[in-house]
Amino acid sequence: MAYSCPMFEKQQGISARFNTTEHIVVFPGDCLDMLRTCPDNAFQLIATSPPYNLGKEYEQRLKLDAYLNQQAKVIKECVRCLNARGSICWQVGNYVDNGAIIPLDTVLYPIFTSLGLRMRNRIIWHFEHGLHCSKRFSGRYETIIWFTKSNDYYFNLDPIRIPQKYPGKKHFKGPKAGQYSCNPLGKNPGDLWIIPNVKSNHVEKTAHPCQFPVELIERLVLSMTREDDWVFDPFLGSGTTIIASIRHGRRGAGAETVPKYVDLTQQRIKDELAGTLRTRPMHKPVYDPIEAGNSLTIAPWTTQRDAIQLALLEKKRKHERYVAK
Ligand SMILES: C[S@@+](CC[C@H](N)C(=O)[O-])C[C@H]1O[C@@H](n2cnc3c(N)ncnc32)[C@H](O)[C@@H]1O
Repeated sequence: MAYSCPMFEKQQGISARFNTTEHIVVFPGDCLDMLRTCPDNAFQLIATSPPYNLGKEYEQRLKLDAYLNQQAKVIKECVRCLNARGSICWQVGNYVDNGAIIPLDTVLYPIFTSLGLRMRNRIIWHFEHGLHCSKRFSGRYETIIWFTKSNDYYFNLDPIRIPQKYPGKKHFKGPKAGQYSCNPLGKNPGDLWIIPNVKSNHVEKTAHPCQFPVELIERLVLSMTREDDWVFDPFLGSGTTIIASIRHGRRGAGAETVPKYVDLTQQRIKDELAGTLRTRPMHKPVYDPIEAGNSLTIAPWTTQRDAIQLALLEKKRKHERYVAK
């Protein structure tokens, strides 16, 4: 069936088999089976969040070595299909073994480098909600490890710059004295990204237990690809990578083994093409319950006066964090 999308000139269908003439491909099956049908150098960006081997409903928990071997096979095929100027971004958290954590990026890193890839960033994705741990600090970040196939890789910061902290600042000496010192397009967002994770009250929440937010992938798509490039996700889940790609006029492909998530991905793509998919906009400030005046931020066991005092103190502390020392 064909769907129209303002980003693409013609009506687009969702194909189940990869072909470079398509625009959107959702392969209902194992990513290795799909990758075997994809030509060398086809993808400009491969962005994914693989199963973390935690025994979720869609994965069989394996011994760590077996899990890493499985990942290595997928990564090797991905590298074959990656363009010489392309990027691979693997978004991972921790594997937990009897209470001990193993950060998956540390054990996956040697797989990527043994295939000749070069690491460009280890992005920390910080969020505020998750499990509450009682025997260690609660985990409030995951990482995106970004590798490229060569030193001559495509990267464009401009579409993802964020507002400068001091846009009015000027050079105070030298040949540029008196001129504005910052880039008017904004600053580099850095390698610490504060983006809410998709929990129950998030506008993007679906039945999939481990979605990543669309805005997280939009940053990768916009900085690492050009319009019409292919973006691939071997572990589609609810299809977030394809959503972020087609939203910006890129082609999107990926695989998913679980039929209900294949259906979910297809539905989200249709909604995106119809312009009805609700997502959290890029650059929207993170909700601050104190600033929003949420009454739940006032502890019932304090007096109203103490509570206001506390809220003001918190605000001052926050403000001080952001002003120059
Ligand atoms: C962590 S989730 C990805 C979630 C995704 N980032 C999103 O935003 O919805 C991993 C997904 O990979 C799927 N999966 C696991 N093994 C797979 C395989 N060999 N090939 C394709 N998909 C697989 C699982 O069913 C699961 O939906």
